[in-house]
Amino acid sequence: MLLCISDVLDYAELKEIRRLIGGGKFKDGKLTAGYRAKLVKNNLQLDKDAPGAKEVKSIVVAGLKRNRTFQDTALPRTIRPPLISRYQEGMNYGWHVDDALMAGDPKVRSDLSITVFLNDPADYDGGQLIISSPFGEQEVKLPAGAAVVYPSATLHQVAPVTEGERLAAVTWARSYVRDAAQREMLADLLAVQKKLAALAPDEAETDLAFKTYSNLLRMWSE
Ligand code: NI
Repeated sequence: MLLCISDVLDYAELKEIRRLIGGGKFKDGKLTAGYRAKLVKNNLQLDKDAPGAKEVKSIVVAGLKRNRTFQDTALPRTIRPPLISRYQEGMNYGWHVDDALMAGDPKVRSDLSITVFLNDPADYDGGQLIISSPFGEQEVKLPAGAAVVYPSATLHQVAPVTEGERLAAVTWARSYVRDAAQREMLADLLAVQKKLAALAPDEAETDLAFKTYSNLLRMWSE
């Protein structure tokens, strides 16, 4: 499932993030790429020790944690600290798959990849995130503060930025429910249960919908 969420960060948070990273030191993105991804990664990333880097990451993670759509759909167990990436004119990130196990102790399995857009599409040309899917290539370029969530198992790329600059936070989540099809069924059932609770709060079938959701989550979560 490819999920676009419009309201992960608000205007004040975006302004604060851009202020914090404004003078920050950026390094070659290849430094955090896996063996094969290194060959095609051509961007910059905020130095993890740069002043303000920790605060920026906290703001992004807090935005994801409080977002109901993200929580209900991704069922995140662990969210990795984001990488803050900058693509200047001519930069891109060719086709690659994200590492299955992300740095940490213990390592964190990546079930979902997340890009939070930190500046507006009007600020740059090109720079679309392109995700390979059974339904063809999906191109994503969202307003500042919006996020796209997609399976880490997919091949994807960031098209070359041809003018301006693209700023984004990229991170990964391990989900309580590993299987994407199971996560989708849970999200669908949650929507049904909410609707039933609103339309038929006193019906026994509404209790059954809640029971089924709860028991499937119990069965599938790890
Ligand atoms: Ni990637």
